[in-house]
Amino acid sequence: MPEEAVQAPAVTAIKVELGARSYDILIGRGLINDTGAELQRRLPGARVAIVTDETVARLHLNMLKASLRAKGIDHTAITIPPGEESKSFAVLSRVVDEIIAARIERNDVIVALGGGVVGDLAGFAAAIVRRGVRLVQVPTTLLAQVDSSVGGKTGINSPRGKNLIGAFHQPTLVLADCGVLDSLPPRIFNAGYAEVAKIGLIQNADFFAWLEKNWRAMAAGWPEREEAIAIACRAKAATVAADETEQGVRALLNLGHTFGHALEGATGYSNRLYHGEAVAIGMVLAHEFSARLGLAPQEEASRVAAHLADVGLPTHINQIPGQRLTAAELMQLIGQDKKVARGKLTFILTRGIGKAFIARDVSPESVAEFLAEKVT
Ligand SMILES: NC(=O)c1ccc[n+]([C@@H]2O[C@H](COP(=O)([O-])OP(=O)(O)OC[C@H]3O[C@@H](n4cnc5c(N)ncnc54)[C@H](O)[C@@H]3O)[C@@H](O)[C@H]2O)c1
Ligand SMILES: [Zn+2]
Repeated sequence: MPEEAVQAPAVTAIKVELGARSYDILIGRGLINDTGAELQRRLPGARVAIVTDETVARLHLNMLKASLRAKGIDHTAITIPPGEESKSFAVLSRVVDEIIAARIERNDVIVALGGGVVGDLAGFAAAIVRRGVRLVQVPTTLLAQVDSSVGGKTGINSPRGKNLIGAFHQPTLVLADCGVLDSLPPRIFNAGYAEVAKIGLIQNADFFAWLEKNWRAMAAGWPEREEAIAIACRAKAATVAADETEQGVRALLNLGHTFGHALEGATGYSNRLYHGEAVAIGMVLAHEFSARLGLAPQEEASRVAAHLADVGLPTHINQIPGQRLTAAELMQLIGQDKKVARGKLTFILTRGIGKAFIARDVSPESVAEFLAEKVT
């Protein structure tokens, strides 16, 4: 076989169909080197403000800058400290100030180079500077490639809760270079994997079965990694196109997130438990709770737990390091996260793998009783 036959695979393009605001997600290895060419072709004449964090800047900023330089694109880079704490008014204020100081105007573009923290913060800055400038997402974590860079949710945290301040602001392009994931610490890669598995669990049992067989190859690299990212992005793109502002089906993407957000809240949004890890435990709980309510077979819940545990994700509340969590504090956080309508909670429940649905009539008592068992 000639050498060329094993070169990096072609780029996958997925369109997010939102009428005049439609955009492409490009997925492929080494794509970061094409950023300059893609911007020149799609947004000719635009100047660029890159927003990134210190860790990603050390690893991948030079490549991005070189690709802009090669096409003669004028650019500046703004660097923030890594971590969830950067999704704050203080950091937003500095970033916005630097964008304005760099004379970024309506026809220019902000490039978010980083994980979900950079994407959410830079996206929100793009939404509010000059009442909205264009945004290109160059996601560098698995979570950002399959989830946060697509769909237009941007924002920062309030001291009273996560993601409480923000705006919908769709990107004009998402460039997902699967090669940059090679530098991710395994724990952060796995946290993103939970959101990949989520896509199978919501509506694609075949994909979940494929992941059960291929997750090692997927973690190792292409072509399985690109394939899995493309499947997850296609599902997210279709869901966003059907329900951009989460009036209906987009809520299915919250599978495992009601329990997950409560666990994150109880652990202070810290390194004790990453978002994806909380979602992994939350998805297992959602399946077990559905089984408890007689909606789904218990074996399916066990299968979900077994797969996520294989990958190296936590699947049980008692695996969270540090102080024990109580059912009472988790219930209080669930009450804050969710609107309680007529004494009932809305949850994403399931009839089995690939069969998630929105349940609007879950009684808080049944959740409390279930959690009381699960915290032991
Ligand atoms: N907007 C949305 O729709 C949406 C969806 C899901 C999650 N989110 C948000 O995303 C955030 C979590 O995103 P995340 O998990 O990407 O976290 P993150 O952005 O904090 O990245 C995790 C860590 O990985 C580092 N990192 C990033 N890319 C790297 C690389 N290629 N190599 C080595 N290290 C790298 C970062 O510096 C950081 O320390 C949360 O704030 C969450 O609320 C948003
Ligand atoms: Zn999530």
